[in-house]
Amino acid sequence: MKFNITQTQKGEDVPFTNPAKGFYEALGFDGMKEMMYRFYDCIYESDIANFFPQDEDEFNIIKEKNTLFFIEICGGPKVYKEADGMELNEFMIRIHDDFSIYDKSRLEWLGCMRETLEATDVDEELKQSFWDYVEAFSKLTVNSFAAKRKFEDMH
Ligand code: HEM
Repeated sequence: MKFNITQTQKGEDVPFTNPAKGFYEALGFDGMKEMMYRFYDCIYESDIANFFPQDEDEFNIIKEKNTLFFIEICGGPKVYKEADGMELNEFMIRIHDDFSIYDKSRLEWLGCMRETLEATDVDEELKQSFWDYVEAFSKLTVNSFAAKRKFEDMH
């Protein structure tokens, strides 16, 4: 199992593949829910917690929506209703446009995902396919890049 992470390059083409269908089959609805809730518990304590609602009820809505999204993207039933006919991944990129996400935020997000997966009992190959999807796809949620200005240029 390799939790590889490569840096996001502005404007790069990002090929990705959805997780293997077996991932949902292995965990089932309740297993996926348990996993995603653990992920969000980590996010809530992380450096990117400020991106998310602080109100517990509102945060729970995000948890629930995320669970349904991941169930569907992992080959489960079509339970995520927010995309309104749009392709799921395209819709997800759109959702993240409302936030200024840097690669640093993505690394924090992936850190929680790694922790979550490490504590999830599922076949290594399936786990790898899930990781490869989130590692790559998360690059497309990055929409803010630090300006590469030299100190001298600012004076
Ligand atoms: C593989 C990468 C990612 C996937 C699949 C993903 C998926 C999702 C999903 C399903 C939602 C809920 C959308 C809805 O129905 O309302 C969401 C919301 C959100 N995600 Fe992500 N996400 C990813 C990466 C990230 C990263 C790297 C960040 C970094 C900060 C992030 C921040 C957020 C925020 C702030 C929200 C919205 C919370 C709100 O509505 O107040 N996501 N994401």
